[in-house]
Amino acid sequence: MTRSHAADDVTRALAERTGTDARDWHLVFKARYGMQVVLQALAATGGQGEVVTQVFTCCTAVDPVLAAGLRPVYGEVSPGTIALDPDRLDRDGLVAGGRTRAVVLQHTFGIVDDGASRRLRAAADAAGALLLEDAAHCLGRMARREDGTPLADVSVHSFGVEKMLPTKFGGAVWVSPRLRGEPLGQRMVRDLAALPAIGRRLDLATRLYRTQLRVLGRLPAAVAGPVRGLLTRTGTFEPAIAPVEQRGALAHPPMRPSPAVVRAMAAGLATLDAEEARRAAAVARYVAALGDVVEVPAAVAADAPLVRFPLFVRETGTAERVFAALTEAGFRPGRWYRPALFPGVDDPAVYGYVPGDPGIATTEGLIARVVNLPTGVDVATADRIAAVVRRVIG
Ligand SMILES: Cc1ncc(COP(=O)(O)O)c(C=O)c1O
Repeated sequence: MTRSHAADDVTRALAERTGTDARDWHLVFKARYGMQVVLQALAATGGQGEVVTQVFTCCTAVDPVLAAGLRPVYGEVSPGTIALDPDRLDRDGLVAGGRTRAVVLQHTFGIVDDGASRRLRAAADAAGALLLEDAAHCLGRMARREDGTPLADVSVHSFGVEKMLPTKFGGAVWVSPRLRGEPLGQRMVRDLAALPAIGRRLDLATRLYRTQLRVLGRLPAAVAGPVRGLLTRTGTFEPAIAPVEQRGALAHPPMRPSPAVVRAMAAGLATLDAEEARRAAAVARYVAALGDVVEVPAAVAADAPLVRFPLFVRETGTAERVFAALTEAGFRPGRWYRPALFPGVDDPAVYGYVPGDPGIATTEGLIARVVNLPTGVDVATADRIAAVVRRVIG
């Protein structure tokens, strides 16, 4: 499949940002489909097995594992990074010749910790597993080796709803050139390159998305829900998370974006530096105002361009009070990732998730206490948001 000029612009821009080769980047309709293609290739070449990931995530990050016929297993996250804790993976059978096919390195909220990531890489290597970097929250940023080159085998980036750019749709997958000579890498690249573009109906839904959101936002909640459901069922509205995606499946087969989505991705990338600077400035204000009253993950640098600013309060009740106070003050606090496998799944057993599993007590403790603040705001707004949080915390 030949790439369009706009697609070349996107892959070139991603390559420039990351110091990689544009040929190693592949565009997908959403990041979740990139993960699916990669994991399907893994299952096809390496056989069935497990993917070690975390429940402190969105269900759409685990659906691809199930869609590929692999089994998700959940490790503990580190409170300092909200990524899998490399020191606590022993329970997952991460041993050479074991069942683990991939380990997910998720840069939750855009927190990238090279040191911890390298130790996760070592654990994946010891198991002979693929290191799959989920950079959905930090478009164009990757964990690095000591020599500055990308650490992961595959890195997945999102242009989707509530991510770094206002693009709403689109994803990109980087496949390490180290895999070029291997059947697994060749299979991934072949399958990614052969993806069909989204059809006309879905393309139309992407074009109507903003207008639909505006209209739905003006309707009373009791009406908006059913209208949204109807539009979703008829394929007129493409939700960020479809009902079926809370039941362990994905809404569509893997596809690449339409030309219109690709053009939006190219235009969005041109604004990413400014977007990162704005978000980094808000993060700096939050760290300064809140660092002494709430728990902030240790790996949050004071100038990190995070997609949301995470904080942990003492207990769920306080998190709910912070959430309510911010909402009442007219701000948009986030609940990501309370509950686990956000926004929650119909049947955790389908996901192999056992709520209350003592093996992920740290993760569940963090989920109970998390609140996240918007970073796409100006510093004055960040200050006002921080003041509300401080008032509730007391
Ligand atoms: C951590 C994480 N990974 C992957 C995804 C999937 O991204 P996309 O919406 O582009 O499919 C999301 C989306 O919410 C996410 O939060």
